[in-house]
Amino acid sequence: MRKTASLVAAASAVAMILGTSSIVMPGVAHADQELIAKGKKIAENRKKGNCVACHQYQGAVSPGNIGPPLVAMKARFPDKAALKAQIWDPTAKNPATVMPPFGKHEILSESEIDAIVEWVYSL
Ligand code: HEC
Repeated sequence: MRKTASLVAAASAVAMILGTSSIVMPGVAHADQELIAKGKKIAENRKKGNCVACHQYQGAVSPGNIGPPLVAMKARFPDKAALKAQIWDPTAKNPATVMPPFGKHEILSESEIDAIVEWVYSL
C-alpha cells in the first residue's frame, strides 16, 4: 500500500512538472513567433527594411544578391548585440558599404530593428 502511495505521489509530481512546463513553454514560444513574424513583415516591406532587395534567405521572394545570404545567423552572430549593430549602422564596420544605416538614419525605429533582429536570428 505504502509503495503504491509513494508511486502515485512521484507520478503526480512528474505530472506537475510536465504540466507546468507545457503551460509555460508554448507561451514563450508564442511571443517569440509573434516578434519574428513582425520582424519578417518589416524586413520584407519595400518601404521599410527591404532587406530582400539585397539579401537571399529561405523563403525569400525575388531576392537580390548584393549582400551575403542570410543563413545560419545565430552561428555567424553569436553576439545578438553585434547583429543589431550591423543593422543599426553597417557603416561603423565598413564605411563603404551599400547597406543602409537603418537605425542611425532613422529609417526604422529601434523596436522595428529589435523585431528584425529576432527574425534574422531565426534564419
Ligand atoms: C542595398 C543593399 C542592402 C540592403 C537593403 C540591406 N543590406 Fe544587409 N548587407 C548588404 C551588404 C552589401 C552587406 C555586406 C557587408 C558590407 O557591405 O559591409 C550586408 C551585410 C549584412 C549583414 C551581415 C552578414 C554577415 O554575415 O556578415 C546582415 C546581418 C545584414 N546585412 C542584414 C540586413 C537586414 C536585416 C536588412 C534589412 C533591414 C539589410 N541587411 C538590408 C546590403 C544590404
